[in-house]
Amino acid sequence: MPLFTKETAAPASPAPRAVPVHIAAIMDGNGRWAVKRGLPRKAGHAAGAEALRKVLYHCRDIGVKYLTVYAFSTENWKRSEEEVGALMVLLKKYLIEAIDSMEREHIKLYVMGDLGRLSPELRALSDRALEKSRTVEGMQLNVCFNYGGRDEIVRAARKYAEDFAAGRAGALDEALFSAYLDSADIPDPEFIIRTGGEQRTSNFLLWQSAYAEYWFTDTLWPDITPADFDRAIAAVGRRERRYGGAK
Ligand code: IPE
Ligand code: IPE
Ligand code: MG
Repeated sequence: MPLFTKETAAPASPAPRAVPVHIAAIMDGNGRWAVKRGLPRKAGHAAGAEALRKVLYHCRDIGVKYLTVYAFSTENWKRSEEEVGALMVLLKKYLIEAIDSMEREHIKLYVMGDLGRLSPELRALSDRALEKSRTVEGMQLNVCFNYGGRDEIVRAARKYAEDFAAGRAGALDEALFSAYLDSADIPDPEFIIRTGGEQRTSNFLLWQSAYAEYWFTDTLWPDITPADFDRAIAAVGRRERRYGGAK
């Protein structure tokens, strides 16, 4: 058997897999979208929220079980008070709307991140959304707000250490540690979409992305459409995932 054999035919690309269980998205580019139009950055965030609504319903309709979106990072507090305030208002709007419509739309809502720095009003709304979600059958939207992957890991480590010291937890392994993360009980995302042209994680789902496929696009988040999601799903579905194994 020669070491190198000439390929006689291009390898057939694998058939696209079924719909992913869990898609995550770094919704980037809202600010640039607004600036290009001579609008304040907050107008970009409002447009981004509308784009999210469309792709969320689309994901539900095609059978995606979890959509996790990065809405506000632990680093985004560095922005102007006006912009941070506008993002808080949008979260409030989204939570109120979700509480009202989740039964009808069959979409649960869960906020991931350190909610301790949010206003009591936002925390109460997030609790209500979570409470109501327990009675809803359907897909789940996870909104990452004041979320940082490193922060999530540190919070989980602290909680585990407390439980261990109190004799409530045994020896640590990956499965047990996962249960302390905000994403406990949620399967890891098959892939992560990042819009807006940057190719970095910006502290998103550091633990959960260990074997996620990344899909990057220059499209700014407010311009993203369900058709872009279909393209991403098809492209990622053709990739071969080896998880460290060999063919
Ligand atoms: C992403 O859009 C949304 C948040 C980070 C809140 P940006 O606001 O980062 O938009 P660009 O990257 O400045 O265009
Ligand atoms: C990542 O976008 C955070 C969110 C989309 C919420 P950023 O715009 O904050 O990331 P960097 O600064 O380009 O890395
Ligand atoms: Mg950005």
